Amino acid sequence: MDTRKKNNAMRVAVIDDEPIACREIKKGLARRTDFEIEIFLDGESALKKMEANPFDLVLCDLKLPGMDGMRVLKILKNRFPQTQLILVTGYGSMDTAIRAIQAGAFYFIVKPVNMDELTSLSKRALETVQLVKETQVLKKKLFNQSRQQYLIGHSPAIQDILTLIKKVCSLNCNVLVQGESGTGKELVARALHFLGIRREEPFIAFSCGGFTDELIANELFGHEKGAFTGAVDTKVGLLESADKGTLFLDEIGLMPLNMQMKLLRFVQERSLLRVGGVKPFPVDVRLIAAGNHDLKEEIRQKNFREDLYYRLKVVTINIPPLRDRKEDIPLLVQYFLERYNRMFNKQVHFVDPKVMAVLQQYPFPGNVRELENIIERGVALSDKPVIRVLDLPDDLQELSFTSFEDTEWKSLEDMEKEYLQKVLHQTNCNKGRTCDILKIPRTTLWRKMKRFNLD
Ligand SMILES: Nc1ncnc2c1ncn2[C@@H]1O[C@H](COP(=O)(O)OP(=O)(O)OP(=O)(O)O)[C@@H](O)[C@H]1O
Ligand SMILES: [Mg+2]
Repeated sequence: MDTRKKNNAMRVAVIDDEPIACREIKKGLARRTDFEIEIFLDGESALKKMEANPFDLVLCDLKLPGMDGMRVLKILKNRFPQTQLILVTGYGSMDTAIRAIQAGAFYFIVKPVNMDELTSLSKRALETVQLVKETQVLKKKLFNQSRQQYLIGHSPAIQDILTLIKKVCSLNCNVLVQGESGTGKELVARALHFLGIRREEPFIAFSCGGFTDELIANELFGHEKGAFTGAVDTKVGLLESADKGTLFLDEIGLMPLNMQMKLLRFVQERSLLRVGGVKPFPVDVRLIAAGNHDLKEEIRQKNFREDLYYRLKVVTINIPPLRDRKEDIPLLVQYFLERYNRMFNKQVHFVDPKVMAVLQQYPFPGNVRELENIIERGVALSDKPVIRVLDLPDDLQELSFTSFEDTEWKSLEDMEKEYLQKVLHQTNCNKGRTCDILKIPRTTLWRKMKRFNLD
């Protein structure tokens, strides 16, 4: 059997409480198409199966014991929006059929089912599914491409990293990338791959944290058919899928010790043994490992193997936190502004100088990712060509108020106006709450708002 074709086959569920009706539909479709078809006698069991592997199309009888066809449709639209549903109704259920289409069903078909009609309807529904899937793949690809190219920054630290990347991108040596969360470790790994000679080959990322030994072994090394109960097919592991390309092992410090041993053997021998396999075979993968853990400390604590550490850190790239290279902030801000303007189709091209002053002061525990989120949010919220302090998250707004550095000295009157504006903003212009906070009577608030042109 051509297994690849089988993997790409459209998956169809037939739900009907009458086994004969199910079998007839399955037989009719199987004769006319190469769909993979499964039958279910109630909606609950079909939906349960979908949790693990969603169907592309559901052919569902309207009248079912327990959950009826309309209920299945509702849950489907909520949980599996990519799946299409064709409702099979009895004669005289026209109203329901129309309601079903309004609720998002692809179409309906009246019993007794004409198999040719059902086949062409199913094919059309599946064309829609295919189109949505392809668009999503394209979108993801575009997004990844836009991600992989730029490592922004003119600080000496980033410039040194760029020089190092250019030097080693086409070599086969393993690289260890270290830095706090959100500093750009994956971006550096992608740059190493996409600027080097392996750029046409796969780049696969795997995060080592939070898995058991068995799961990691399975994911990385794959298994042979029958290696353990449940191993019904051969599984190709990520190391094998990344052959000729790069495997990015994120959070390496969290890899269990047993797996470190197995990985070390792979690094030394460059050959792979699937779980349950007997014969290793050569695999050519460049490894880039990353972590925000202090691996030296992990070695001292006996949580990380020293031999593996030295094998992985042939070249080490340390990315400093954003607070230690503040000169990169304006450039990154401009870069993210342009990126999110494009994404949201907006025209927010500047940040208020006060915003920049706040960003220069903020310690960015989430590093560049946090800055990116702040700008994304600002572009999304701003209805002006500029991101203002009030478009920042609350904790940064606080900082703007407490920050006197980098700002000009203001008159008491200006400060009063600014403070009043801030409280009004926080209370959503609720005058009662504003008066409570400021401890002034309503008439005073009204007078002040008038004087400052705030009404
Ligand atoms: N120098 C940079 N130039 C442009 N974008 C950057 C830079 N550094 C990080 N980013 C962006 O910040 C986000 C976080 O980067 P990335 O995922 O590479 O960080 P990380 O170090 O792998 O984080 P974590 O430790 O949480 O996995 C990404 O969207 C990335 O594109
Ligand atoms: Mg990462």
